[in-house]
Parts: sequence; C-alpha cells; structure tokens
Amino acid sequence: MDTRDLKRLLSGMSLREKIGQMIQLTGMYFDEEAVLTGTVGEVKPEEWVIRYAGSVLGMDGAEKIRAVQEKYMEEHPHHIPLLFMADIIHGYKTIAPIPLGQACSFHPELVHEAAEYAAAEASSEGIKATFSPMVDVSKDPRWGRIMESFGEDPFLNGVMGIAMLEGYQGYGSIGGARIAGCLKHFAGYGAVNAGKEYNDVELSRRTFMEQYMKPFRMAVYADPAMVMTAFHAVDRTPVSKNRELLEEILRGELGFGGTIISDWGAIGQLEEQQVASGQKEAACAAAEAGVDIDMMSPAYMSHLEELVEEGRIPESAIDRSVWRILQMKNRLGLFEDPFAGMKRSVCLSPAAKRGALRLACESCVLVKNEGILPLDPGQKVFWAGPYIDSREFLSRWAIFGEHADVETIETVLKGRKIPVKLIPGCEILSEEEMRIWCAGDGKPVEEGIQGDRKDVDWQKQYAGVEEIREDDTVVLVLGEHEAQSGEAASRAFLDLPERQAELFDMVARRTSHIVTVMISGRPLDLRRIAERSEAILLAWRPGTMGAQAIVRLIYGEESPSGKLAAGIPWCTGQIPVSYWDMTTGHRMSEADPGNRFCSRYMDIPNTPLYPFGFGLSYTEFEITPPQMRKEGAGEEERICVSCRVKNTGDSSGAEVVQCYVETICAPVVRPAKELIRFRKVFLEPGREREIEFAIERKEFVFYGEDMEPIDGGIPLRITVGNSSYNAAGSVDFTVGGSV
Ligand code: NOJ
Repeated sequence: MDTRDLKRLLSGMSLREKIGQMIQLTGMYFDEEAVLTGTVGEVKPEEWVIRYAGSVLGMDGAEKIRAVQEKYMEEHPHHIPLLFMADIIHGYKTIAPIPLGQACSFHPELVHEAAEYAAAEASSEGIKATFSPMVDVSKDPRWGRIMESFGEDPFLNGVMGIAMLEGYQGYGSIGGARIAGCLKHFAGYGAVNAGKEYNDVELSRRTFMEQYMKPFRMAVYADPAMVMTAFHAVDRTPVSKNRELLEEILRGELGFGGTIISDWGAIGQLEEQQVASGQKEAACAAAEAGVDIDMMSPAYMSHLEELVEEGRIPESAIDRSVWRILQMKNRLGLFEDPFAGMKRSVCLSPAAKRGALRLACESCVLVKNEGILPLDPGQKVFWAGPYIDSREFLSRWAIFGEHADVETIETVLKGRKIPVKLIPGCEILSEEEMRIWCAGDGKPVEEGIQGDRKDVDWQKQYAGVEEIREDDTVVLVLGEHEAQSGEAASRAFLDLPERQAELFDMVARRTSHIVTVMISGRPLDLRRIAERSEAILLAWRPGTMGAQAIVRLIYGEESPSGKLAAGIPWCTGQIPVSYWDMTTGHRMSEADPGNRFCSRYMDIPNTPLYPFGFGLSYTEFEITPPQMRKEGAGEEERICVSCRVKNTGDSSGAEVVQCYVETICAPVVRPAKELIRFRKVFLEPGREREIEFAIERKEFVFYGEDMEPIDGGIPLRITVGNSSYNAAGSVDFTVGGSV
C-alpha cells in the first residue's frame, strides 16, 4: 500500500480500532491450542479487544492461522490484517543450535543463513514476526536465558544480532521470504542480579551505556522492525515506563524508527514493581514513554481509551504508535496479501538441514584434547550416556521444532556402520529433578520423547558399564535437560544431573580414556569432569542435526572450529566472570602468584577454566604479531591491523583470529580488553593467509568522567590472537595521534 493510502487508512480508524493495533493477545483467545509462553493472569479482554487486537502471539499451524486471519479481516471494519508473531529463537521446524552455540561458530554468515531458513519456514506457515534476536550481553551462566544470547561479549552480540536480523528481514535468496525481527530485551537484561530470572538489574550507567547497549547500538543499524522492552528497571525506572531510555536514547540517539513492544505483561507489571498505583497508571506511563504494543497485560486494553478521552494521552501519540505498527504490516506486504508466503510449506528442506548441520558442527567447541580425538571409525569404542538414544537436542525455545525430526546418535552411528557398543546408562534427570524442573509438564516427556526407555530398569542399564576395560575408550554424551535452560530456568548449581554424575564416576573408575560430549544450554561447572576426561567437546543444544554433527566431529570428518562465546567458569563461586572485567589497582601478577593482597580468591584461580574465545582444532595454527597502519585523518581516521595466519598442522581446519583493544591509560577505569574484530579463516594444511581488520576511529570511543564521549588522544593497545587469553602479539597507538 502506498504511504498516502496508509495515512488515509489511519485517519479513518476509530479510537478503539487504533488502540486495538496496540494490543497483542496470545493465540488462546482465537484458538484454544495456542502455545503459551507466559502466564495469562488477569488478562480478560472484552469482545471489542479480540475483534480489533492488531497482533497475536504463539499461534501454530498454517490452517489455523489462515482461518483466524480470514474471520478477523472479514469482521474488522477496515479489514486490517492481523500480524502473527512467535518466539522463533533458533529455527522454526529445522532447529539450528541455540544462539549461544551459534555465537561459538564465530561465523556470522552461517547465522544469517539459519535465520533466512527460519524466516522462510515460519512465513510459509503464516508467522510473520519473531521475538528474536536477543542481544543481551550474558556473563552469568546461572541465568537460563544465556542460551538465547550470543554470550559474554558486546561486540560478538552485535555482530551476530545483525546477522540474524538481516537473515530474518532481508530479501534473502531463500524464496524472498522475510519476517519482522525484534531486538530484545532492551536493555541490560543479561546483567540480571545473581543470574536469577525476572530479577532486577544494577549496573553503573557507564557499563550499561558502553557494554550492554553496544549490541543494540550496532544492531539498530540493521533496521529491526521491533525492539522489546525488558522486564527490569534501569537505574530503578522500569524500561516499559522509561522515557529517557525509549524516547531519548532508543528513538533519539540510536535513531530507531520501528515499533516498541513490551515484553509479556511488562506494562501491567509496573503495578507489581510498585511504580504505578494501578493498571490505568501503568498504561499511562507506558504510553507516555512510547511503548507501541502492550503484549498480554490488561493495561492498554482496559485503560488507554479512557486515558485518551480524559486528555491524559493525546490522540496524536496513539496515532504515532499505530502508524508505526501499520507501517510494519505494510512492509511485510500484508495489505497486499495477508497470506503472503503461505502458498506451500517449505519446512525441513534438505538445504535447511544442511545449513543446520554446518552450523551445529561449527558451534561445537573442543576445550580439551589429550590426543584422543579424532577417533578412528574402525576402533572399538563404547558410546554411553542418556543422550545417545535421545532426541532431546532441541530446547524449550524450539517451540515449533519436533523431536520426531531429530536423529539419535545411535541411529547415526548404526547408519554409518561404525562398530560401537552402546550404554545409555541412565535417564537425563532423576524423578526428583524432573519435578524440580517441571520437566514432566513440558512436551518432551508427555510426548514420550524419552520414549521406549521410560520403563527401563536403570540398574540393569548401569550394568553395561561393567564391560568397560581399562584400555577401552568411552564417549560419554551427557548434559542438561531441555527444561533446564531458557526462560524461567535459572540454576544455583551448575553440575551434571545426579544420575549422570554417578554414571560418569562409574565409567571413570573403569577407564581414563573418556571423551565427554556435553549437551547444555549454558556453561556448566565442568572442572571435575574435565580433570577426568581426555577430551571434552561442548555441543550446547545442537538442534535437529545435532547427532550427525557430534558423530562427524568425534570421528574427524570435520575439525572442530568453535570458540567459546562465554567462558566456562572455574566453579559457580567464580560467577560472573568475563574476560572484559574491569581492571583493578590490586591486579594479580603472574610474577607473584602467591601474593594474597591482590584481587583474587584464595582457593581458586582468577581465570576461568576455559576463557572466552578459546577452542581447539585437530590441526594447529600460527598467528603472526600484528602490524598497523593508519588511514585517513580526523573523523575519517581508520586503524588497519594486519597479521598472517598459517595452518601448521597436517589436516584442514579453521582458526578464528581475534583482535582485542585495551586502553593503556584513561581518565576512568576501563575493561581489561574488548573484542573489536574477528575473522574465521579456513585453511588447508601448510596454507596461510593475510588478514586485515579496518577499524574506524569512532569504534574506540568511550565515556569520560562526566559521561562525555572521548574519541581520541588516548593510548591504546591492540592484540591479536586465538582467544581472549592468548595473544600472538600487540601494537600500541593513539587515535588522533601518530603510530
Ligand atoms: C517473555 C520473554 O521474556 C520474551 O523473550 C518472549 O519473547 C516473550 N515472553 C513472548 O513469548
């Protein structure tokens, strides 16, 4: 529809119709089988609200969506189409690894492609908007939502957020299908206190603006259709009523022109946060702050009309919100065709599965290998653990993914005729753990995903372990349950589920040749497992093609190339720990490790077990120290950092060259270092390549003592290397000065 017609449409709408666009209801008001991703509580919409609500979340199935759309449009006075939204977090039917795993690939092109497939699949089933990507910097693995993030680093979150958004929203090669993306949770939700879900956030303004806002700042350039307000407060003002954050920073400074949507119930929750005396005040505060869509709270539907009639919210503010929503629908082509992209389902195509497999392979991180991997496909090996015959490689955020589409490790091994002995050993969770994690209420168990193994006599299964001899090799595939990460899944302990820990101990008593493959939605407390394993491969929640990826990597058909997007802590007491923690005056010195008067724990090291950016390969690489030159001058000044990377081993593989910046002396305390560029380089043995990173002057900007941007005159150091703790060399310089 052209802009003039769209404006005409807006001017002909009644106040209720307009407010309707600003209300999002869950699918249960249109169809009882809708997916619920939050609690419904007090939401009791009147009949007009259901008739005019502009968008629906969590509705599944092309036929249903078609029927609801047809009926809705027929009854709507202006026949405005509904916009169906959902949480498509890491794939629609073809499930890619969780975002944390995707980030470990350090390969944004693959992330982009996976998002294109997700968009094509979702769009073919009628869903035209996703609440993704989440770019919350997350360095606390107790928080279950770290799985949805791209990890602990602001820059990596930004790069991957852009890749994902462009995959969803671009006119990509995959059928030209696109859906609206949504950057969330604006902003700082990854710093949730003590890693406890729905908790508040306490951050300095500087850290908030520099590190937590950075991925949003970066990804807004990819023109997201929506931004979602987080549940928490920033400097004690909840985001959903935070005018400064939404109007001045997001819309003003960052230039965001799309739709602001609240998180589920977040406007209504202003009352629970005790910053609004009731739902009416909550609605008023959120509308004044510029929240365009109220997702599932009673506030807008019950009070916005009255607030306009009383003159407390000008109708022009409503018009501005509705205009943004109509524009979003228009850009998706819904006015021309409310069923755009729905001609035929394109789910689970061979190409989408190939993409998911590639991404699954590249997201696995090999953190330890004492020469045991890769295994020889002819050698006698035991594969043990509950994940060898399980299909639970998805996650609670793979809402539309089906376990039936996931192969098991057992079937993959059998399909390849690899001679192995299988010992499932135990269930993923004990009965008590199932209760704690509400795992019995979720779909995995109800649908019999643990399937035939439900009635297994576990003691008998453990018996298989006795066949293991001292010189046998055992691949143990262990990890968290799907229900243990995602929304509302914070953990205080990050150990293996109890039966699996027992199984590990039993195996470790029999042989030391253990390869542990870890399935999880977060970094776990791995130290004791690591001490007694000869190799550890972290596979995260690897998605539909997870089993294939694991088998390929273990047998060396692919070389691992993932790097940690979030460090693995030494133990839970070290959390949160990140490579970019601030420098202190009591730095621990390598020259004097016994000094107690420095910033340290007396009983554990300062460094994580495995740091950000770390990951091994089956081959070896050498990176040369960096060279630097400057280009341009003034505002246009650019720093060009180059180095060479060489595959010095005897098999092909990929290295991620990482470039970090550090301020040598600044008026304020700054992060120890920050990732500023990276590049994944695939090389055959003996081959080498020159890498150059061009970094704009403005990328070095930080806030000074009075929050004034400092953009030059500061001595800086750039290091290149293959992890945050392993530098090949460094070069010092000053922007705005000479090399
Ligand atoms: C609440 C979650 O915080 C958010 O990320 C999600 O998109 C919405 N629920 C909708 O399911």
